[in-house]
Amino acid sequence: MPGAFTTYTLTALLLSVTWADHHQHPLPHHEAELSCLKLSPFNAEFAFALYKRLNAQTAAGQNTFFSPLGISTALSMLSAGASGETHSQLFSTLGYSTLNQTQVNNAYENLLHMLGQSHENEQLKVGNAVALRSNFSPKENYLTALRSHFSSEIFKVDLSKPDNAAAEINKFVANKTHDKIKDAVKDIDPDMAMMLINYVYFKGEWATRFSSELTHKADFHVNATATVQVDMMQNNDVYQIYQDAENHTTVIQLPYKGNTFMMIVLPDEGKMEEVEGYISRDYIWHWHKSVNERCVILFMPKFSVSADYSLKNILREMGIIDAFDDKADFSGLSDAANLVVTKVSHQAVLNVDEFGTEAAASTTVQISPRGGCITENVKVNTPFLVFIVEKPTRSLLFMAKINDPTAA
Ligand SMILES: *[C@@H]1O[C@H](CO)[C@@H](O)[C@H](O)[C@H]1NC(C)=O
Ligand SMILES: *[C@@H]1O[C@H](CO)[C@@H](O)[C@H](O)[C@H]1NC(C)=O
Ligand SMILES: *[C@@H]1O[C@H](CO)[C@@H](O)[C@H](O)[C@H]1NC(C)=O
Ligand SMILES: *[C@@H]1O[C@H](CO)[C@@H](O)[C@H](O)[C@H]1NC(C)=O
Repeated sequence: MPGAFTTYTLTALLLSVTWADHHQHPLPHHEAELSCLKLSPFNAEFAFALYKRLNAQTAAGQNTFFSPLGISTALSMLSAGASGETHSQLFSTLGYSTLNQTQVNNAYENLLHMLGQSHENEQLKVGNAVALRSNFSPKENYLTALRSHFSSEIFKVDLSKPDNAAAEINKFVANKTHDKIKDAVKDIDPDMAMMLINYVYFKGEWATRFSSELTHKADFHVNATATVQVDMMQNNDVYQIYQDAENHTTVIQLPYKGNTFMMIVLPDEGKMEEVEGYISRDYIWHWHKSVNERCVILFMPKFSVSADYSLKNILREMGIIDAFDDKADFSGLSDAANLVVTKVSHQAVLNVDEFGTEAAASTTVQISPRGGCITENVKVNTPFLVFIVEKPTRSLLFMAKINDPTAA
């Protein structure tokens, strides 16, 4: 990847909402435009709840990485076809209990529009799709909602050859993620009625690059006893930082050209668990508001991580239960089959180097009939946390815990 970044010319964004201040939005037509901001506090809370679950099931010393925005979006498309208790469980887990589906649909329409608009140069692509079994027809209303509110592309797949269908979906996702995710779907249920697909692709160039000549081998302290060798990048610049002694953390923001920044949260040595225990949207907000410009010599490892999650059990633990069992009510999606969600998969990859960051994620929700037959229808040298945030929409695009930058 080194050298592959071209220089993007970014159009200054009209909608320069200050991420830190709710009360200040110097926007001419703010009400409609800001409907996406309705989602941001809820999506952030869901992100932290999910982080805690994913982290708990990750083997000690391994890294955690996912796209909160991608997962919230895929589950919101699912909820658009759910009714009754199935719908309430999805909404309450996503944090949307105070909203109705119409509001959520409109908010996503606005959010996807804003994310698309702010990145003419393909720096950020968030999109959705539906792969439909060729002889399955969901309700027209549902497809219309997916098309208009979630900008979904819709394509048919031939499930008489499940491997080909999986290959077709994988080709679609690979194309959208610039080949960063090539096997979003590993095996496909031959009875599958449809699959909801979300992808997120981000490529950002640091506002100030690290100089490759300064990159050197250095120690990274995985824990009190283990040390690994990393390629440590170095840059001497003005950065926004905040040293939060009370909360045992150093926070540094690395802006990309454009509207997005990386926030690194570096707990004091040995304090990762404590910081992880309390970290939430409020802390991120507090830190974002507290950073100040300082001259910094920043040492940060180059790293690449990837992760692959099956989310069904975690989502069940978080309260999405009926969607996966006999009680599933997807009557908003189809009158026909007794549909149930059989699988929710998430994959994510992240590369950080001297030039910037490239990250991608896919989320797939596989929906099949229950019966099985389808009816006709600073020195970052200790473990740290990473957040990639899109400012105007306050979206947590990606989130990571890096315990060991050398573990893929
Ligand atoms: C430190 O990390 C190494 C490598 O991941 C692991 O084998 C070891 O058990 C860890 N030690 C402690 C005290 O956590
Ligand atoms: C959703 O909520 C909005 C705002 O409270 C309300 O105007 C609208 O009628 C509601 N829609 C439905 C379908 O309940
Ligand atoms: C994705 O496919 C389209 C249409 O075939 C093509 O024009 C585009 O270059 C592809 N994008 C990538 C990143 O491969
Ligand atoms: C520690 O975090 C809490 C919660 O975000 C915040 O209220 C407090 O001000 C923080 N301490 C410092 C010194 O920033």
